[in-house]
Amino acid sequence: MDDPEVLMMQELLKIDVELSSTAANREEALCSKNVMRKQRNWERRIEAKKTKRKEEKERRKQNQQDKDVVGPQFSKRVIKAITKERLEEARTTGPRLCVDLGMTDCMSHKEISRLAGQIRRLYGCNKKAQKPFHLLLTDMKKDSLIYTECIRMNAGFLNYMIDVTEESWIDLFPSEDVVFLTPDASEALEEVDGDKVYILGGLVDESIQKKISYTRAKELGVHMMRLPIDEYMVKKTNSKNFHSKILAINQVFEILLTYRDTRSWTTSLSAGIPAGKGYIVPSEAVTDVSQ
Ligand SMILES: C[S@@+](CC[C@H](N)C(=O)[O-])C[C@H]1O[C@@H](n2cnc3c(N)ncnc32)[C@H](O)[C@@H]1O
Repeated sequence: MDDPEVLMMQELLKIDVELSSTAANREEALCSKNVMRKQRNWERRIEAKKTKRKEEKERRKQNQQDKDVVGPQFSKRVIKAITKERLEEARTTGPRLCVDLGMTDCMSHKEISRLAGQIRRLYGCNKKAQKPFHLLLTDMKKDSLIYTECIRMNAGFLNYMIDVTEESWIDLFPSEDVVFLTPDASEALEEVDGDKVYILGGLVDESIQKKISYTRAKELGVHMMRLPIDEYMVKKTNSKNFHSKILAINQVFEILLTYRDTRSWTTSLSAGIPAGKGYIVPSEAVTDVSQ
């Protein structure tokens, strides 16, 4: 005969085992859901990396092809002499482009260092250009962090063929000659006019401070324009649904240089806007099979 107390104990133990096994099952299901989610994220990231690598490879290939059609290879000394001559000529004939360094107060030390790097890249593009711009760094105070960072980070900065001045562009040029480039302008740029002075806001957007350059240009009452991204490009669907028309100063400048060479916004925007910004020209949208 079974002892009723023992039977009760057995019953209780059974319930306990059942409960803990249901909890274990739930935990296991949750765990495998997490694993699957992580796996999906992982796969997505790998896929994005692959696409990016493919696009970069194609861009490099295109650049190489472009170089190949340029023609004869010159020695370094000759290239240096040609570059110097072109930059000197641009000082008198080229369209002027100022990087306005009068807004650095709203940036962190890290952002200012990044801006110094962008100035180096911008100058590097100008040196390589067939038709360079006359470059100016305005509102560049000698005791500012941006000046110190440019000297620290950019080898040979003091010998750059750029006009560096403590003055502001507003005191240097008649305001009717000025076009302030800002992503928030309503008017799109159609031409790069040799008689105009183009202004780029010396800003780096890590903390995404909106409309700083727009507000400055508006306060100073000068003409504002944006790159014609809406006119020549379409949004590319991407997993993060991310689309941005805000570019770094060197990227905007590279687009202007390519436009001067090609007279094609489609060519210059598609070459100059990084894939991660979520915009492509419509012809690429037709052939884009990665989506
Ligand atoms: C990183 S952006 C700064 C964006 C910032 N939020 C602002 O207040 O304009 C640096 C500069 O590049 C130029 N820029 C960037 N994207 C542009 C666009 N789509 N069209 C025209 N200029 C642009 C502007 O001169 C801008 O001040």
